[in-house]
Amino acid sequence: MSLQGKKIVLGITGSIAAYKTIPLVRLLTKAGAEVRIVMTKAAQDFVSPLVLSTFSHHPVWIEFHEGAIWNNHVELGLWGDVFIVAPASCHTLSKMANGLCDNIVLATYLSARCPVILAPAMDEDMFLHPATQRSLEMLRSYGNTVLQVNAGELASGLVGHGRMLEPDEIVQHLIENTFRGTKLTGKQILVTAGPTQELLDPVRYISNFSTGKMGMCLAEECYLQGAEVTLIAGPLQVTTSIQGIRQIAVQSASEMEEACLNHITSMDIIFMAAAVADYRPLSISNEKIKKSEHTSTLLLEKTNDILAAMGSVKKAHQTIVGFALETENEEANALKKMKEKKTDFIVLNSLKDEGAGFGLDTNQVTMYAATGEKKVVHLESKMNVAKEIVNYILE
Ligand code: CTP
Repeated sequence: MSLQGKKIVLGITGSIAAYKTIPLVRLLTKAGAEVRIVMTKAAQDFVSPLVLSTFSHHPVWIEFHEGAIWNNHVELGLWGDVFIVAPASCHTLSKMANGLCDNIVLATYLSARCPVILAPAMDEDMFLHPATQRSLEMLRSYGNTVLQVNAGELASGLVGHGRMLEPDEIVQHLIENTFRGTKLTGKQILVTAGPTQELLDPVRYISNFSTGKMGMCLAEECYLQGAEVTLIAGPLQVTTSIQGIRQIAVQSASEMEEACLNHITSMDIIFMAAAVADYRPLSISNEKIKKSEHTSTLLLEKTNDILAAMGSVKKAHQTIVGFALETENEEANALKKMKEKKTDFIVLNSLKDEGAGFGLDTNQVTMYAATGEKKVVHLESKMNVAKEIVNYILE
C-alpha cells in the first residue's frame, strides 16, 4: 500500500518516543511520501536531526531561522498534505490547545491548512490528567485528529496508557484514514478469495494452490477507495492489516455459497475471485480412511457454481465480476463463462502467462465487459492489477 507523492510534514517534540521517528520517517519515505521535518529544541535530546535529515533527504528545521535565512514555516504549512506531530508531548499539546507559538513546531501547526494528526506520548498519569484531557478535547474541537495511545511499559517504569502508536500504526492510519480515497464511498462490495477445502475425512481435504493474494488485493483496493468491504474467504495464506475489512472465514464451497447468497442483497459490486473447488468427495468419512488395497477410487460430486447462482439472482443495479482461470482457448472460455454465469465482467487469468499465477506477487489479466469491450493489463504487482480492475469497472 502506498503513500506515493504524498507530502508529509512531521513535527517532533520532546518525548522519549521521539526515537521512533527514525523508523517512522523510513516507513513514510519507503511508502513513497515526501517528508519535511520540524522539531523542537527539546526533541534533539531524544533523536538526532542529522539522522532525520539523512533519511528525509531534507534539512530539519529547529529554529525560526538559520543565520540570516528564514525557515518559512508558513510555506511548509501550505506545502503539506498532512501535518503529523509525533510524538506530541504533554507540554506541546497544551500549548497547541492554547495557541502558543514559541517554537517552529507550534508556528507550523498554527499556519498549517492541511489536516493535523497528533500522536500523544507521555506517562499515564500525565495523559489521564484532566488538564491534558482538556487540551486533547480542545484540539479535537479544532478539527485535529488525536490518535489513540497504546498501553504498555512506559519510560517512567510504570505500566499503563501513554505509549505513542508504533510507526507502522501511524503509517497505517495515514493510508486507511487520512488518504482514503472516495471513488467507492457509499458502495457495499463483496469479494471472494482463496481456495475452498473439501473434506474427505477428519484429516484430509481436496483443495487447490490458491493463496488468496489477488482477492485480498481487490478487497484492500476497494476499501482504500472508500467502500465498505466484506471478504468471504476460504483458508488464506495472506492477511491484511486493514482492520476495516469485514472478513467471513469459510472452508468449503457450500459454506462459501451460503455466505455469498446471504450477503448478495445489500451489495453493489461483487468480485468473485475465489478458486472454488468444482468437485467434493461424495461422502465425508467420520473416521480416518485406512489404507487397504493397492489402488483406491474416490467418488466426487459437483459443487454448486456460486458465481452462476449469484448471477441468476442479481438485480439490475448490481455489478458482478467473475474470474476465469484458463490454460487453453483462454478468450473463448472466458467469454463463455461470462455469458453462462450472467456476469457483467470477466477477468481472465492465463496460467501460461509468465509472472501470473498462484502465490506470485504479480499478475497479468485481460478484462472483458459484457458490453463487448476488453482491456489488457500487462504484468504488474497484484495491487496495481487490482487498481486497474476497479478503475475499469468504474469507467
Ligand atoms: N466459481 C464459482 N463456483 C464454483 C466454481 C467457480 O463461483 N463452483 C467461480 C470462480 O470464483 C470464478 C469463476 O467461477 O469467478 C470461474 O472459475 P474457474 O475455476 O475459472 O472456472 P469454472 O467455472 O470452475 O470452470 P472450469 O474449471 O471448467 O474451467
